Amino acid sequence: MTFRESDTSDRRTRPADHAASAADDAQPVRLLGIVGSLRPHSHNKRLLSAAALQLPPQTTLTVFPHLKRVEPFDESDEEPQGGGPPGANALLAAIRAADGILFVTPEYNGSIPGVLKNAVDWASRPTPATSALANKPVAVIGGSTGMFGATWSQQELRKALKLAGARVIDAELAVPSIDTAFRDDGNLANPASRRRLSEILQILSEEARTTAAMRAAAAAAG
Ligand SMILES: Cc1cc2nc3c(=O)[nH]c(=O)nc-3n(C[C@H](O)[C@H](O)[C@H](O)COP(=O)(O)O)c2cc1C
Repeated sequence: MTFRESDTSDRRTRPADHAASAADDAQPVRLLGIVGSLRPHSHNKRLLSAAALQLPPQTTLTVFPHLKRVEPFDESDEEPQGGGPPGANALLAAIRAADGILFVTPEYNGSIPGVLKNAVDWASRPTPATSALANKPVAVIGGSTGMFGATWSQQELRKALKLAGARVIDAELAVPSIDTAFRDDGNLANPASRRRLSEILQILSEEARTTAAMRAAAAAAG
């Protein structure tokens, strides 16, 4: 998708009061945040915190805190319906409970951090049509201390998520020099990046709301 880089406004566009109240009446959306860095002072964790500051109305964001406890994927540890060991089961339960997922990834050696790829492998089973990620709206953002902002890692993560059955939002936020990218208030310093983050969250929230409503309707119809 295309973003308007020239728009330096920090505010979401709400053309009329009735639009705001319509959004406030909408069904709540639960997003799950998964960060591909394990270290406590991760810049990508700060990026997820910046996202939490810009959520659309009626949208909550919960962080999955136990990526380090997800066991290395081993097909021989798996249950027939996927999962098996406790760390992997906790991840799958969190994914299933969420209406949408925001992945935030650094880049390691031009690719996805191993812990994050491991999580996607668990969540892809047993098939893309029946996995925890099946038809789940997901967005991928990320940053690196380098000048490209983890773009390769993001591209590869999107590819893996699509193969795992997720509904991947076609939008990117790459944050270069991420170690100097934040203001004191926790927001991204670059106005275009703030705007882009806001737009991605808006799209993810709307996709998650629509997909959750369709799931609920299908379940009610039996
Ligand atoms: C093992 C390793 C490999 C890295 N490879 C890359 C890379 O390929 N591209 C890049 O831009 N930065 C790379 N970096 C630097 C990361 O962008 C930087 O460490 C960043 O802060 C990691 O994200 P975090 O702060 O969320 O932990 C690498 C860092 C590590 C530890």
